[in-house]
Amino acid sequence: MYKSSKIFSNRFKYVNLVSNVAKYGSDKTQNCNVRSFEEIPGPKSYPIIGTLHQYAPFIGDYDVETLDKNAWLNYRRYGSLVRETPGVNVLHVYDPEDIETVFRQDHRFPARRSHIAMYHYRMNKPDVYKTGGLLSTNGEEWWRLRSTFQKNFTSPKSVKSHIESTEIVIREFINWIKERNVSHNEDLLPYLNRLNLEVIGVVAFNERFRSFSPEEQDPTSRSSKTIDAAFGSNCGIMKLDKGFMWKIFQTPVYKRLADSQTYLEKVSTDILYNRIHYFEQPEDGDISLLGSFLKQPNVDLKDVIGVMVDILMAAIDTTAYSTSFALYHIGRNPEVQQKMFEEISTLLPTKDAKITPDILSKAIYVRACLKESLRLNPVSVGIGRLTQKDFVLRDYIIPEGTVIVTQNFVASRMPQYVKDPLKFKPERWIRDSESYENIHPFLSLPFGFGPRSCIARRLAEQNICIFLMRLIRDFNVTWMGEDLGIKTLLINKPDKPVSLSFTSRIV
Ligand code: HEM
Repeated sequence: MYKSSKIFSNRFKYVNLVSNVAKYGSDKTQNCNVRSFEEIPGPKSYPIIGTLHQYAPFIGDYDVETLDKNAWLNYRRYGSLVRETPGVNVLHVYDPEDIETVFRQDHRFPARRSHIAMYHYRMNKPDVYKTGGLLSTNGEEWWRLRSTFQKNFTSPKSVKSHIESTEIVIREFINWIKERNVSHNEDLLPYLNRLNLEVIGVVAFNERFRSFSPEEQDPTSRSSKTIDAAFGSNCGIMKLDKGFMWKIFQTPVYKRLADSQTYLEKVSTDILYNRIHYFEQPEDGDISLLGSFLKQPNVDLKDVIGVMVDILMAAIDTTAYSTSFALYHIGRNPEVQQKMFEEISTLLPTKDAKITPDILSKAIYVRACLKESLRLNPVSVGIGRLTQKDFVLRDYIIPEGTVIVTQNFVASRMPQYVKDPLKFKPERWIRDSESYENIHPFLSLPFGFGPRSCIARRLAEQNICIFLMRLIRDFNVTWMGEDLGIKTLLINKPDKPVSLSFTSRIV
C-alpha cells in the first residue's frame, strides 16, 4: 500500500497506481497515471509560511474577509482544483462531480478542521465541558454527542411541534415592524438577530429573552450581550484556525473568543440550572430541545451545556444572514414576490389564519424562494472536510490530513452549472415548472452534506419559511439598499445595511 509520504518523496512526475485501484475504489482511476498532490495547480508556496503571505495586507492578493473573491481568483488562475498551503494542505474543489466524489469518500465520522482555538478553550475548562462540542470535536467523541442529541433536532414530528411557538414570536416581530413603522433608513440586520435569538430561545430552551423590550435593547442587557457573544465566538474562528500565536499567548482575537464563550456558558448554565428542578416533574409539557435533552436517561449535564452554547453560536447569525439575503432577493424581484403572495394568500386566506404543518408543506413556491436564495447566498462559502484516508480525485492523489473546501458559493454562480446563474429564479427548483432545471445535487449545499451536515437544517428552513410567509402575507417589501455582497467572518455576512421598506397589504 502506498503511504502519502512515499508518494510525496517520489520524484517521478507520474506514479502508476494501477495496482492500487482497488484501494481507492474508484472506476475513474483505472489504468490511469496518478499524479502527486504537489502537482495540483495553486499559488506559490514558500517554506514555513506556505501560501500564508497571500493573505498579508499590502503583499498578498487575498483578503481573509472576502473568501468568495479569493475563490473566484483562484479558479480563474488555476482551474477547478486548487491547492493551497496556509500551514496545512488545503484543496479547493469547484466542480459538483468532484464535490460528490469528495463526499462519497467521507468517513463514518466525517471530520472538519475548524474551531481549533475554541476546542482548546473548552478542553481547558473540564469543570464546565466534557468535550469541544459538536462544532469542533471529531471522531468517536463527535458521534457520541451527535447521536445523543440529533433526534431532538431532526425528527419531523419534533420539528413540526415548534411551528406554533415560532409563529407566535414571528407575529410579535411583524407587529413590531407595524408599530415602529420601520423604514429603510435603518439596518434591519440587528433586529433580525434579535428575532432569531427570540425564536431559538423558545424552540431550544423554552426561554423568552424579550429582546425587543426597551430594557433588553440596552447594550448591557442579556439579549444584547448574548447576540454580541455569539458573533464574538464566530468572527475570530477563521483567523484563529489559520494562526498559531494564540497558542503562545492570549492574542486579542483569542481573548474575544474566550470572553464570548464565557458569556454564552453563563447564559446557558443559568437557563439550565433554573430548569433542572422544574424538569424533575415527569410530565412538564415542555417540548423545547432542552426539555427533550433533559428527559433522556443519563444525559451528562456538561454535554448539555456544550450543546446549548453550540446552539447559541450556530443559530443566530446563520438564520439572520440567510433571512437578510432572502429579503434582498425577494425585495428586488417584484414578480417573484407577487407569486409568493398569491401562494401565501391562497394558503392563508385571512391575515390571522394560522400556519400548520400541512400549510407549510404546500408552500412550494416559498420554499423554492428560500432554496434559490441559499444557492446565491449560502452562509458558508463551501463545506470543509478533513480527509481521513488517501484517495484519488481526477488523477491526483489527495493525502490523508488534507483540508478540502468545496467551493459551492462560487460554483453555484457559474453558467456551466446553472442557467442565468445570477438571476433569482425560484422556478428552476420546481419540478412541474417550465423553467425547471436538473441542477447537480452537489452544486448547492447550504447545510452541508451527510452525517455531519447542519443538525438543525429542518428547523432553520421551517423558521425562515414561517417568517417569509408571515411577512409577505402582511407587507409588500422593497429593497432600498445597494447591491449586497458578502464579508466572510466564518460565515457570510451582508456587507452593507439591510435596507427595506415595508408597505402594508390591505387584503
Ligand atoms: C439558515 C440557517 C443555517 C445554515 C445555512 C446552517 C448551515 C450549516 C452548515 C453549512 C454546517 C456545516 C455542515 C457540514 O459540515 O456538512 C452547519 C453545522 C451545524 N449547524 Fe447549522 N446552519 C443554520 C442554522 C443552524 C441552527 C438554527 C442551529 C442550531 C439550532 C445550527 C446548528 C449547527 C450545528 C450544531 C452544526 C455542527 C454539526 C456537526 O458538526 O455535527 N445551525 N450548519
